[in-house]
Amino acid sequence: MPASDRAAAREAGELVVVKLGGETFAEGQATLDGVVDAAERHRLVLVHGGGKRLSAWLDRLGIESRFEGGLRVTEGEALDVAVAVLGGLVNTELVAALARLGVPAVGLSGADGGLIIAERLPHLGRVGRVVGARPAVAQALVERGLVPVVAPLALDETGAICNVNADDAAAGLAAALAARLVLLTDSDGVRSADGRTIARLDEPAAEELIARGTITGGMVPKVRGALAALRAGSRGAVIAEGRATGSLRRALDDPGFGTRLVASTAHVDRDSQALSTR
Ligand SMILES: Nc1ncnc2c1ncn2[C@@H]1O[C@H](COP(=O)(O)OP(=O)(O)O)[C@@H](O)[C@H]1O
Ligand SMILES: [Mg+2]
Repeated sequence: MPASDRAAAREAGELVVVKLGGETFAEGQATLDGVVDAAERHRLVLVHGGGKRLSAWLDRLGIESRFEGGLRVTEGEALDVAVAVLGGLVNTELVAALARLGVPAVGLSGADGGLIIAERLPHLGRVGRVVGARPAVAQALVERGLVPVVAPLALDETGAICNVNADDAAAGLAAALAARLVLLTDSDGVRSADGRTIARLDEPAAEELIARGTITGGMVPKVRGALAALRAGSRGAVIAEGRATGSLRRALDDPGFGTRLVASTAHVDRDSQALSTR
């Protein structure tokens, strides 16, 4: 596509917030190629994780990682390392990889322009829950044809830096931008107890699966974040596998790919619709 056509397509394109798993882009060229393809057709805001890279650096530096309820307690030196690794290393590597592929990526963290607002969780040090977003800085970049790449850091109400879950950050941004939300991961959507991918999932069904222990670990913030984003004005939310060629395009265009979160409706026949599997 000629550059001018590309720019026109992008300008007309829908705004999409895409979360890349910390591992998906480090491991795969296919994920990056998917972003290049999506950037030609949509206005994009990217959010990245990086928990595994952070754990590796904490280990290397001899700083112990303590987890409570699946969340990393982040204080003191661990916070310094989180800021350096997520906001520095992982963010810059992703920006550089995209720049090499011709995507005009600009690195930010959730602290820039007060982009992501967090509320500290008790007993976890500087770990926050995303409670809002001030998307002006991301909007300004998108309007200039640039692609913001956001590290999962935030500021709390006192202005202190917090580490936040990247799914949570992406969901908060999608809500504030009234954008579509795509959470790319290493699993092909949300699986039911029998291991099949759930095509459509609403809030009551999701909470039931969480209560039953079918949805656990890192899938919990994805599902809850995506549902919260939908409630708060996001234009659709999907959780899909992000490592294969064409994944992001399929997550955006193919209703049969990944798990779509849907608004709760009292009338939905849950077995056939909201919890339909393939
Ligand atoms: N019901 C479920 N369906 C799919 N994956 C699940 C489910 N429950 C837990 N998981 C786990 O959630 C993981 C994805 O979350 P996470 O490890 O945080 O990855 P990411 O880097 O994409 O955030 C999957 O690899 C899987 O092990
Ligand atoms: Mg995760």
